[in-house]
Amino acid sequence: MSNKDELLILSKYLKNKERIEHSKRTAKLARELAEIYDIDKEKAYLAGFFHDIAKEVNSDKALLLSKEYNYTLSSSERLNKKLLHAPIGALIVFHQLEIQDIDISEAIRWHTTGKAQMTTLEKIIYLADCAEEGRKYPEAKKILELSKENLDSAMLFTVSFLMNNLIEERRFIDKNSVDCYNCYIQKK
Ligand SMILES: [Fe+2]
Ligand SMILES: [Fe+2]
Repeated sequence: MSNKDELLILSKYLKNKERIEHSKRTAKLARELAEIYDIDKEKAYLAGFFHDIAKEVNSDKALLLSKEYNYTLSSSERLNKKLLHAPIGALIVFHQLEIQDIDISEAIRWHTTGKAQMTTLEKIIYLADCAEEGRKYPEAKKILELSKENLDSAMLFTVSFLMNNLIEERRFIDKNSVDCYNCYIQKK
């Protein structure tokens, strides 16, 4: 798949131009991190490029897709529509784009909540999403620095930062994010 083909495919799913730019920047950073941590750069690039492919799928359509592809939504995914784009994105990339690579689909599947015991690729996509150069919050720089030094420290910092934001806004926290936090606090 050439870069041009990828962009054409992504533009069919995403109409928001800034979202496409965010995807490109996430892919670029994911590839950079893959180089540092010596994992497959192409996989990192593709997972980063398509991680938000389902961001514009509405919840009715998301429910239909989950049924079509035999994916059972968790209760928190059913209650929190924002979480849906991660598992649905993984399904779209696997079944519709036919990128049938479990490492890529799992990295997309866990990019929003995180979880305990993530693979290097999963951590890279989670972190690249938060640290790509278009991110304007001050913590993005720190996430970027830590990501290049030590992925587990970067994970702990980032999941804590995101959970703090959710608490401040009195929003729901998915159990997988708590597991993610507990996993990386124990590795400290
Ligand atoms: Fe996302
Ligand atoms: Fe994203």
